[in-house]
Amino acid sequence: MARRKIVAGNWKMNMTPSQAVALCAELKDLVKSDDVDVVYCVPAVDIVPVVEAVKGTNVEVGAENMYFEEKGAYTGEISAAMLVDAGVKYVIIGHSERRDYFKEDDVLLNKKVKKAFEAGLTPILCCGETLEQREMGITLDWIRMQIKSDLVGVSAQQVASMVIAYEPIWAIGTGKTATTEQAQEVCKAIRDCIAEVYDAATAEAVRIQYGGSVSAANAAELFAQPDIDGGLVGGASLKADFGKIVGYNK
Ligand code: PGA
Repeated sequence: MARRKIVAGNWKMNMTPSQAVALCAELKDLVKSDDVDVVYCVPAVDIVPVVEAVKGTNVEVGAENMYFEEKGAYTGEISAAMLVDAGVKYVIIGHSERRDYFKEDDVLLNKKVKKAFEAGLTPILCCGETLEQREMGITLDWIRMQIKSDLVGVSAQQVASMVIAYEPIWAIGTGKTATTEQAQEVCKAIRDCIAEVYDAATAEAVRIQYGGSVSAANAAELFAQPDIDGGLVGGASLKADFGKIVGYNK
């Protein structure tokens, strides 16, 4: 069975609640699609108003982060149960900005992935290399290490249902997109890694996105690659262009 494409916006630390509602209204008709899953991953305070704003549309809502503990004395954190109760379906885990600025490591991210599944959320697990790692020629080793460590104890059935986003750090927010060959090479390596750790059917089912300066101009070529099942989109998800990315095949 062909994998369904999934295009997710990562709003990052943008959009106040009222701006978020206005953006949902602006994008509503532009992101309509029968063949692509559309997700807005939004800041925590925007979740409740955005869930309300997209009611009755094809858009699902995701969070940009969560904590792995059930509940309790973790000031400032948000639990998986809170997200589920608010109507969230997806959660980004291990974005490079969280790994870099907030020192999230693979041991922590593995706990978050497992908790997300336990709560019924679909993780969008991010991985990606720095420019230095790419130049050293260790990109594929690095990515395989991230994927393997972040998925310790996660079942084949869970992996088959999740989303993995390959985001080369040097391509994020820089306007410097990976070439389609580079993006396809790493997305295929991720799929091969899943086949090796799990099995061919799980590798065939898992959806792998490319992220890093995805735009209306490059989405069609990227998403046409055999192992790229859509995109995780930062900057371009905050404007009308996001509709063109969702409708890349039109
Ligand atoms: P960008 O961000 O599209 O602005 O490069 C992508 C991301 O960080 O998910």
